[in-house]
Amino acid sequence: MEVVIQPDAGAIATLVADEIERLLAARPDAVLGLATGSSPLAIYDELVRRHEAGRISFARARAFMLDEYVGLPDAHPERYRNVIDREIAGRVDFAPGAVQGPDGNAEDLVGACAAYEQAIADAGGVDLQILGIGTDGHIAFNEPGSSLGSRTRIKTLTSQTRLDNARFFDDDVDAVPVHCVTQGLATIMSARHLVLVATGSAKAEAVHHLVEGSVSAMWPATIMQHHPRATVLVDPAAASRLQ
Ligand code: F6R
Repeated sequence: MEVVIQPDAGAIATLVADEIERLLAARPDAVLGLATGSSPLAIYDELVRRHEAGRISFARARAFMLDEYVGLPDAHPERYRNVIDREIAGRVDFAPGAVQGPDGNAEDLVGACAAYEQAIADAGGVDLQILGIGTDGHIAFNEPGSSLGSRTRIKTLTSQTRLDNARFFDDDVDAVPVHCVTQGLATIMSARHLVLVATGSAKAEAVHHLVEGSVSAMWPATIMQHHPRATVLVDPAAASRLQ
């Protein structure tokens, strides 16, 4: 695992956008993995800037989202599908239908999870997966205790994650859904390049476990230590507990 410490989120975003620009130049039909939450926002802004400057096209690319809340109305602004459309997909030139996400409102959630796994496989797998990390060490919504061999499935969010995400729901923790559908740890590990970004001291403990801890389902991100190509980009505050 390569750990890169950068001064701030802007510098991290530049490096990740460089990598995505290189990937799309070499393979315009590459498959990207998109995360939601605050961590990737500077990356998405940088990608939009480069797209507007004519440097990057997503016209032949495809993308898969990591996760989705269960039970939010289709038009809810915090439904991850809407967040991704707002933050990146709707601001660049992805073809219609090229960005897919798990369906958190499917009648048959179990069947929808299996179909999502199949869709990723049919696309040839993810070339570059952007990841954030939860304060409890989750990646996607694989909360502590998640099977290291898990695939896309329904999960229950921890109280900590619901508290952390209440900021997106007018600070009303009760408005944060209890359940989600999420790519599993094995699904994420199938991507060819993992790029995790973390900033701020609230992430320092999780980053410490990710980089220096034992691989354990209790700190799910630690599975990344087994990935042949994992890059972790952090600012000094997120790196503050590294030895
Ligand atoms: C979101 C996701 C989560 C977030 C994590 C960090 O799609 O997969 O794992 O990356 O909760 O969230 P932020 O970036 O908001 O701190």
